Amino acid sequence: MRVVLLHHLFDDDERKLTAKGWDIVVREGGSPIPTEGEIIELAHKADGLVTFLTDKITPRVLDNLPHLRIIANCAVGYDNIDVDYATQKGIMVTNTPDVLTNAVAEYTWGLILALVRHIPEADRFTRAGKFDGWQLALFLGDELAGKTLGIVGAGRIGTAVGLKAPAFQMSLLYYDKQRNVKLESIGARNCNLHELLQASDIVTLHLPLTHETYHIIGEAELSVMKPTAYLINTARGPIIDEDALINCLTTNCIKGAALDVYEYEPHVPKALRELPNVLLLPHIGSATHKARQLMSHATVTNLIAGLEGKTPPNLINPSVLKR
Ligand code: GLV
Repeated sequence: MRVVLLHHLFDDDERKLTAKGWDIVVREGGSPIPTEGEIIELAHKADGLVTFLTDKITPRVLDNLPHLRIIANCAVGYDNIDVDYATQKGIMVTNTPDVLTNAVAEYTWGLILALVRHIPEADRFTRAGKFDGWQLALFLGDELAGKTLGIVGAGRIGTAVGLKAPAFQMSLLYYDKQRNVKLESIGARNCNLHELLQASDIVTLHLPLTHETYHIIGEAELSVMKPTAYLINTARGPIIDEDALINCLTTNCIKGAALDVYEYEPHVPKALRELPNVLLLPHIGSATHKARQLMSHATVTNLIAGLEGKTPPNLINPSVLKR
């Protein structure tokens, strides 16, 4: 059995694979993101493949991995993999849900607070030796109490973000095709996207990237937001039309944004980097010791189960088993 890891997992988890006596190959060196050609060259004999969200598993890649039985993606999102095509080819695909939900939810609140209170900017000011005494109007920001949080996508992470909103005395709106009993039990109201964007003071995105959600926030959507509103994206970059957001932030059509993800990640446009009203983070929403260890662990558990003929706990395409 040959298993190819396009990136290192944590040592304990890699040892579990080695202990199986399988042939384990880990991609070393090179650029952090492997090309299609590299993936094919390294994994053409692989039965199992471990991927990160950066690795594009396209039909061309899948057509060139004839032995592949399972792709274990070390992420909750799996828009990097053509799952329909993998399913057609009988390849299992797994992800790592749940274990990162709280980490991303806490981080989302961190971004909200950092943004509305200018925390990163004030830190830079202090380090630069510019703090020369208390002033009445230094770095004035906004308060959350009494404001409305709009959650776009009330799945696991959106729900976890919403459940922390009462601590900040915020009202909640959410947009999701499905009603969310947990959020409604704390007073959240389900509404359409347009109404949510118009009424929210802070809009936070928690949707997976699909054909339906690509550019779901574009010029028209940004233009109905309040000029005092903030936008947070810890989901996937292409959910927002990045050019439209840059225009909007440049003309102050909203007050600010915090972005953990980008349309052409890892490329962060210069125009975005030069704007003062946006926080830019390097896709670290789930980056806690606990969450990342559990993600590494879940990836290996899924992979081993799939290769040993069991149903992986986080199988995304169960229809593959019926073939
Ligand atoms: C991170 O973005 C993930 O999908 O796990």
